[in-house]
This record gives sequence, structure tokens and C-alpha cells, in this order.
Amino acid sequence: MFNLSNSIIQELNIESLNKRGIRVLVKRDDLIHNEVSGNKWRKLKYNVELCKSRKKEGILTFGGAFSNHLLATAAACHKIGLQSIGLVRGNELNKNSNETLQNCSKLGMKLVFLPRSEYKLRYEKAFIESVSIDYPNYHIVPEGGANYHGMIGCQEILKEIEEEVDHVFVAQGTSTTSCGLAMALNENQTLHAVPVLKKYDSIGEMTNLFRGSGMDEESIKPMLQKVKVYDQYHFGGYGKYTEGLLLFINEFYKKHQLKLDPIYTGKVMFALLDIIQDQSFENSTVIFIHTGGLQGIKGIEKRSGYSFF
Ligand SMILES: Cc1ncc(COP(=O)(O)O)c(C=O)c1O
Repeated sequence: MFNLSNSIIQELNIESLNKRGIRVLVKRDDLIHNEVSGNKWRKLKYNVELCKSRKKEGILTFGGAFSNHLLATAAACHKIGLQSIGLVRGNELNKNSNETLQNCSKLGMKLVFLPRSEYKLRYEKAFIESVSIDYPNYHIVPEGGANYHGMIGCQEILKEIEEEVDHVFVAQGTSTTSCGLAMALNENQTLHAVPVLKKYDSIGEMTNLFRGSGMDEESIKPMLQKVKVYDQYHFGGYGKYTEGLLLFINEFYKKHQLKLDPIYTGKVMFALLDIIQDQSFENSTVIFIHTGGLQGIKGIEKRSGYSFF
């Protein structure tokens, strides 16, 4: 449905790192598809399969006004021939409020705008039950694709990499991608997780996702032991960025012809290049998982007046 072989591995040429025997590879999941880009198809793939096997009409999911996940769900369902519904945070919004919502709507997604107080209930069992009564023919996927099926899809990212890799770097929003990657690590690999939210409890969130998928402590513990969290690269918090980060993204593009966004991947690449200054990375291979997010750049350019590339 979506061509995963588009996700090639690109090697960055950085002289100072070459000298230290460090290779930096990029897993180009951003090339999978324009809208269903990065980790989005990874998280949707098995949810779509489940939706079809349960003979549901479509997928219902949740997201904020600029959600990459909402747009990806709309685009994937449109392409596959499924219906889609997006429950959106904020009843002050409408389908023309921004480009992400306009595109969701053009792709046939029915948008339902919830008051913030109601949207907050999106993880509550009783709320989900009432949504499934209102929309019985829809497979419900949590915000950000954060469920077991999303994790299983993300596990496949590492399985496609034939190179011997020591370190894996990834952004954390809901932690679904990092959980999938942690499940796929071999005993010599370390996952370096960079949360893009301030004061985010990475290990707690990962534990909840694993537990929610039926795993017990004995299987969760060894996976989390291979995870390192860096909580100092959020640049002010979710959706926030600094002038310095924007300059970094621009400079990086000029050098490597690789586009990053200021909400997720820009923060992680910045973190990676900082963290691997440490001696312990000498003579190792590092891989950066490009989780996409480039669809949101136009909106940010409009708001900030800053041109990225
Ligand atoms: C572009 C991009 N990168 C990374 C992430 C974080 O992934 P996760 O929510 O699985 O932690 C997201 C959010 O889903 C995203 O949109």
C-alpha cells in the first residue's frame, strides 16, 4: 500500500566524526509518502489491517489542530478506500482553521471539534466506550497512533536495517515509536530517546504502553535497560523552538540536503550531534530515525515568517 522500500539509508559525511570512526546513518522513513510520512504508516499499518479484518467502515482517531497523525490517517484511509473521522482538540476551530485541517477535510476526513475539557478525557475508558457507541463501525486509534498495533509497526523499522548499528536515535511524542524500536533492539544496541515535550516522563510513558499491551514487568525491564533518555533537548516544550534551532535546521540542510522539522526531527538531530561528542561513541555506528513531520513546516513558516529551506 505504501512503499517501505522508499525508506533508504543515507550516510552523513561529517569529517570530524569520520576521524573518530563514527558513522552516522539516517533511516529515511520520511520518504515513505508525502503525507503518510515517517513513523505514520508504521503506526497505521496494523491498525488498518485490523480495521479491515473486523470489517469496520473506517478509522476514528484523535489529534490537535496541526497533528501529523490526523493528516496521515486521513491520507491513508483515502488511499485505501476507508472512511476516516478525526476528533479534534478545540471547538473554537473549524475545517478551514489551518492547512492541516483543510487537507484532512479534502481527503474526506469528517472532523468533529471537541471542547478542550472533553478532549482531555480521550484516554478514559468510559469516554472511549461512549465514542465506540456513537461510531460502532469505526476502529478507534488513540492520539498519535499510540497502541499495541502502532508499536508492532514501528518494530519493523529496525528489522529493515541490514547494517550493524550500535546506537539508535529517535524523537518521543507518545513513545509509540520508541517502544517499537526498544522491542526490536539486539543485546548490543542502545536506544537514545529524545522527548520533544518538557518534563515528559519517558520511561513512565513507555512502561504504560508496554503494560497496556499486556506485557509483564519481566519482559518490560530488559527492554527499558537499553533505553537512554535525554530530556534537555525540548527547546521549550512541545511545538516550541528557538531561533538557534531554526538556524541549525537551515545549516544542516545546506550541508546534507536533508530536511528536518523544528517540532520533532530537528531537535533530535541537534541532540544526536551534541551527545555523540562523548568519547564513548568512538568507532561506532549511529542511526537517526527520520520520523517525518515535514508537512507541518509550511504552517510554521507562515506563523513565524521564517523560511526553512
Ligand atoms: C514527525 C514525528 N516524529 C516523531 C513523533 C513521535 O513519535 P511517538 O509519538 O511515537 O513518540 C511524532 C508524533 O507522533 C511525529 O509526528
